[in-house]
Order: sequence, then C-alpha cells, then structure tokens
Amino acid sequence: MALPFMSAAEAAEVVKNGDVVGMGGFTPAGAPKEVPTAIAHKAQSLHERGEEFKIGVYTGASTGDSCDGELARAHAISFRSPYQSSKDLRNELNAQETHYFDMHLSEIAQDLRYGFMPRPNVAIIEACQVTEDGEIVPTAGVGNAPTFCRMADIIIVELNEAMPATMRGMHDIYEPADPPVRREIPIYHVSDRIGADCIKVDPKKIVAVVRTHRPNEVGKFTEPDETTMRIGNNVALFLETEMKEGRMPKSFLPIQSGVGNIANAVLGALGENKDIPPFEMYTEVIQDSVIGLMKEGRVKFASGCSLTIGADKLQDILDHMDFFRSKIVLRPQELSNNPEVARRLGLITINTAIEADIYGNINSTHICGTKMMNGIGGSGDFTRNAYVSIYTTPSVAKDGAISSIVPMVSHVDHSEHSVKVLITEQGIADLRGKSPIQRAETIIENCVHPMYKEMMRDYLNHCKKAHTPHNLSLAFAMHEELLKSGDMRNTKFDK
Ligand code: COA
Repeated sequence: MALPFMSAAEAAEVVKNGDVVGMGGFTPAGAPKEVPTAIAHKAQSLHERGEEFKIGVYTGASTGDSCDGELARAHAISFRSPYQSSKDLRNELNAQETHYFDMHLSEIAQDLRYGFMPRPNVAIIEACQVTEDGEIVPTAGVGNAPTFCRMADIIIVELNEAMPATMRGMHDIYEPADPPVRREIPIYHVSDRIGADCIKVDPKKIVAVVRTHRPNEVGKFTEPDETTMRIGNNVALFLETEMKEGRMPKSFLPIQSGVGNIANAVLGALGENKDIPPFEMYTEVIQDSVIGLMKEGRVKFASGCSLTIGADKLQDILDHMDFFRSKIVLRPQELSNNPEVARRLGLITINTAIEADIYGNINSTHICGTKMMNGIGGSGDFTRNAYVSIYTTPSVAKDGAISSIVPMVSHVDHSEHSVKVLITEQGIADLRGKSPIQRAETIIENCVHPMYKEMMRDYLNHCKKAHTPHNLSLAFAMHEELLKSGDMRNTKFDK
C-alpha cells in the first residue's frame, strides 16, 4: 500500500472539533511541527466564521512553539496533559481557558490504557522513517508515541527529512503489559535494550504522511553563571563525600538530571569533577552538557526519552551516529521514567525546585502557590524512587526580592519524606535522618541566603514548640509581602 503523502493543511482537515490528539516526541525534541501549526490555522479560520474548534492534546512533555504556542494562540486546546513550558499556553491555562492535568510523566501512558482519561483518537508523530508496512521510527524524542499510535484510530506522520533514517537503532520501543499480568521491566543495566527499533502499527491507520525539513525548536541554554556553577560544585562535593564515606559504591551510580538551565549547569560541573568517576545516566531529557561529556569519556552511556539539545549538538550526533548509537538509547517515557527501574538501578536524582521550605518540602510547579509554571514533569517519578534524591535551587530569585526558601511552600510537589538533600549556591543541607526542627536548622544554616537567615530564625521564634513548628497566620507572610510590595525582604513577622 503506497503511503498517503499530502500537505500539512490537507492532513489538518482530518482532525475534527472535539478530537483528542496524542502528539509524539518529548520536549521540542521530536514533537510534530507542521500539522499542529496547520491545525491552529484551521482553528483560527473556523473561529473567525463563528464555528467551534477545540481539541484535547496529550504530549510526552513540552513541545515547540509550532505546536503548543500556535495552538494556544489559536485558542484551539480544550484540555492538555501532562507537561508544558510554553508562555502562551501557560497564559491560557492560568486564565482557565484550557484545562490542564499536570501529571507524573511515567504514568500517562498507563493511565490512558486504564481508561482513566479520554482516549486519544488521533496520533501525530514525527518520524525519520515510515514504511508501507507500518514501521515508524521516531526522531529525537519518543514520549508516549507507541501508546498514542496503538490507541488512536488514525495516525498522521510528519516525515522530517532533516532527521536521517540512520537514527534507526537508537530507540528502544516497548510497552509493558497492564496489571494483573504485568511482569518486571527487564532493564537491569542502564544500557539494556528490551524492545524494538521502531513503532509497529497497522498500516491502514496511517492516513497522512507530511514531509518536512523543520529543525527542532529546542531553545538555547543560558551559559552557567557564578550561582549555577557554585550549585554544581556543591552537588559534586556532596557526591564525592558520599563516595569517600562509603555511602555510595566506588563504581558510582547512574545519574538522573532534571530540566532547565540549572540542571544543565549542574551536570557540567559534575562532569568536570575528576574525583567523580565516568558515569552513566538514566534520565528523562538528555541535555546539552551530556554530549560534550560523552565525547570526553566522562559520560559512558545515557538512557533517556529525548535529545533535548541545541541544533549544533544534534548535528554533531547525526554526523557521528556510529559513535553515539552505541552510547545513547531513547525510550518511551513509561520506561525512561519508570519508578521500578529507578529504584532497581539506584539513581542519584538531581532536580530543580522553584521553592523549598525549611522542612524540605518542594514546590516545582506553582509561582506563589497559584500560577502554573511548567508542571511536575518526571521529577516525582525519580525523586520518590531514588537512591538519593537531591533538589537544587538558587537561594534567591529576582535579584534577591524572592527567597527560594520559605517557611512553608505555597504548593507541594515533593514532600519532606522523599527529599533527601537540598543544595543551593550557599551550601548543602543533608536532611537524612533528621527531625523537622533539625532539618529547619540545617537548611537555614547551610542553604538560606544570608539576607534571609535572620527572617527565617525570626519565623521559628514566632512558632510554638511542636513536632513541625508552624505559625499558621505567618507561614505565608513572605509570599503575601511579595504580592504586596514585590519584595520578600520587607516581611515583618509582627502578627
Ligand atoms: N518564586 C517566583 N519565581 C521564581 C522562583 C520563586 N521562588 N524561583 C524561580 N523563579 C523564576 C525565575 O526567576 C525564572 O523567572 P524568569 O523566567 O522570569 O527569569 C523562572 O522562575 C525559572 O527559573 P530558572 O532559574 O531559569 O530555572 P530553570 O530553567 O532551571 O527551571 C524549574 C526551574 C523548576 C521551572 C524547572 O526545573 C521545572 O519546570 N521543573 C519541574 C519539572 C522537572 O523537575 N522536571 C525534571 C524531571 S526529569
């Protein structure tokens, strides 16, 4: 059967108002571009004619501007899950124009299979190869593509000719069976491959193939600055000490590292510390710094869900596939973020907080407890199941107007029970085996910025003695002050 090649606009006609669409890829890496933009244009023209057009959208994680950005600006998304990082979509969901379910990224595929959420009836998948007998080879990100393809009635493929078919062999496509017959996921070493090199679908489901040459839309990382370098060095120092004290095997353990500029800088610092042996990564996104470290032999192998890296680094990989294919595996997020595998392999997990509190609870998602930033992503998948879970954050944000460490987090993503270590540029708070008040003292002493230390001690002085001391009238005084004057430094605990 010949493949149904057509334009993006023709493919967009296949997608109807009320459809639920699963987009392949993970982050802008491997996310479809042409068809979502064409759907957004179609939505705009229908809205101008007074007709309704909105779709539900599932993805792997965030996407590029040609997907989430275009669809959000066209007001074309009714609901969205599990993660995003688009400015325009963020505005839509904070205005309640789009319903957003922020989910642990390892869970979405199984929750869809279990029937917990509306079934995706359309899958849109970027591929570097598609065959007439229904083999689809993803590009730089896998996400939930295998599950979307299996559950959808129809599949639209974006064949990205900028991504060579030589990428075949880099992916490990596998969907676990569901309970009660699920077995263990047989990944016993970071580099184990357990699945196929492509997604196999019924070729009759492929209703459109759209050619494109559009590059990935991964943004540039900010170069590490003094603060992020100090955070990175503190993480390296903590891990080095763990090895010296015998709490970590001498051979080291695989690293999971979160998303964003801080995570990228931390990884760079780890790579440079020669007291830490060359290491493996079992992670979600493989970010820029990993590629250089791999070439230097500092990173031996990386298992991830996507290559979320800039154009130059991606080209480097594509130009040297023989070197990188044996060092990188890209898996569906159900595997890359799998809690069972994370616990078995004993991951060192390093994620970034928006804010932490003096007891070690972490807010990764909500500014002042109400406005969604991105989402929890994979941080919960890894943190709860880590060998040792580390959170990093600069001690202050917005030039000191915000203390990232507060008496009580305004939203909880990771509780004190799961968070083992907190690290800022000021220092390291090892929270293991400590009572709440011991944790508070350690965090204030080691991690809080000097200009907020007295304020935190003052808060504790306003709390009655208890297992976890709090003063419920003052717990959010710093947040209230930020909302009132724009600067937490003006806070007075005088109620
Ligand atoms: N209150 C208000 N704003 C804050 C803040 C706080 N306590 N702390 C940080 N911010 C602001 C920063 O000033 C910055 O604002 P800007 O964009 O206007 O400059 C913004 O939040 C992002 O901070 P940045 O320092 O650039 O961090 P980042 O790029 O490293 O991202 C997270 C940090 C937390 C947003 C990001 O890691 C994330 O989305 N995490 C959740 C998902 C996750 O952990 N995934 C990994 C699992 S594998």
